[in-house]
Amino acid sequence: MTAISTLLPTYAIVNLAALAHNLSHIKRCLSPGTDIMAVVKANAYGHGAVEIAHALARQGIGRFAVASLDEGIALRQAGLSGSIVVLGALLEEQVSDLVAHRLTPVISDGRILPSLAKEAGSHQAPYPIHLKVETGMGRLGVSPQELLSLLDDPIIRNPLQVEGIMTHLADADGADNAATERQLNLFRAMLEQIRQRGVTVPLLHAANSAAIVRFPETHFSLVRPGIMLYGYHTLPASIPSPDLKPVLSLRTTVVQLRTIPRGGAVSYNGTFVATRPTRIAVLPIGYADGYSRRLSHRGSVLLQGRRAPIVGLVCMDMIMIDVTDIASVQIGETATLIGQQGQESIWADEVASWVGTIPYEVLCGIGPRVPRIYEPA
Ligand SMILES: Cc1ncc(COP(=O)(O)O)c(C=O)c1O
Repeated sequence: MTAISTLLPTYAIVNLAALAHNLSHIKRCLSPGTDIMAVVKANAYGHGAVEIAHALARQGIGRFAVASLDEGIALRQAGLSGSIVVLGALLEEQVSDLVAHRLTPVISDGRILPSLAKEAGSHQAPYPIHLKVETGMGRLGVSPQELLSLLDDPIIRNPLQVEGIMTHLADADGADNAATERQLNLFRAMLEQIRQRGVTVPLLHAANSAAIVRFPETHFSLVRPGIMLYGYHTLPASIPSPDLKPVLSLRTTVVQLRTIPRGGAVSYNGTFVATRPTRIAVLPIGYADGYSRRLSHRGSVLLQGRRAPIVGLVCMDMIMIDVTDIASVQIGETATLIGQQGQESIWADEVASWVGTIPYEVLCGIGPRVPRIYEPA
């Protein structure tokens, strides 16, 4: 039993050396002159946005992307001084807070431009904005035609300034290249029209993690890695795996042990019934911590470097594990839900595969009740 598990029965270890390793790998994939905008939205995919952004800033990263105004404000208030781009759509009512915190909006709809220009004019001009063009994701962004007419609007030059033009790729991790190539062709054609109008925009960006590895032609002047920073990818098996290290481990502590007789039931609705005398370990983590209820009867955890199955339904605050075959388990012992123990490991992509989702959802889902402990780089 370690001191840390006594104090905090359930916790996540965030390994900043692994983060630095993944960042170096991303840098090695890029052409010279391509910069990185680190995607730290959704609490840096569950890893803790403030600490991750500061750790990346120490590694020389000066550009960050978040999903929402509140995420951007939280980073500014935590002292992050670099560029912070808000990727999500903004409402007119949010513009004054946006400008007050020097956050860079992504314009996916020209309607907020007049209020943004008014606010920016009285604060800081020229005020950087990025324009988003929709090329096939079917989500946010203006059409290529709308983008060209936006560029004709004088507002866009003063007090605002188009620092970036971006699109988002829908299928960079898909089975084939066709959808990405279609998007890229549309984006390139639009950039060519912009060039012909004599407009220069310093930052052009399209690539997420999968595109960074798979489509070097999407790199332009800036890339937006998210999941790769955290050590995962969702590339098809035909693409050589990038050299990544998972950053987050999720651990908890055995808080109770008991043996139930054959026929004894475990957890709500008695969906597990023991077919032999069964040693049950209770672990204090549940769906309120982001450990999905869909893992009921499906998942395993590591104890003493061996896999032990979850039995019964995952509760809000607890899960039960069958440790009959690991007889020496003791109260106070560490159980690893995501991570490595001895020769065995269970990473977030495996947990995701048990419940038919992606590692993004497993990581982002780890709740605020779970303290994050940072191991220095
Ligand atoms: C606009 C945008 N860019 C980049 C990313 C990063 O994607 P990934 O985590 O796949 O690298 C995301 C994440 O969803 C996104 O929404």
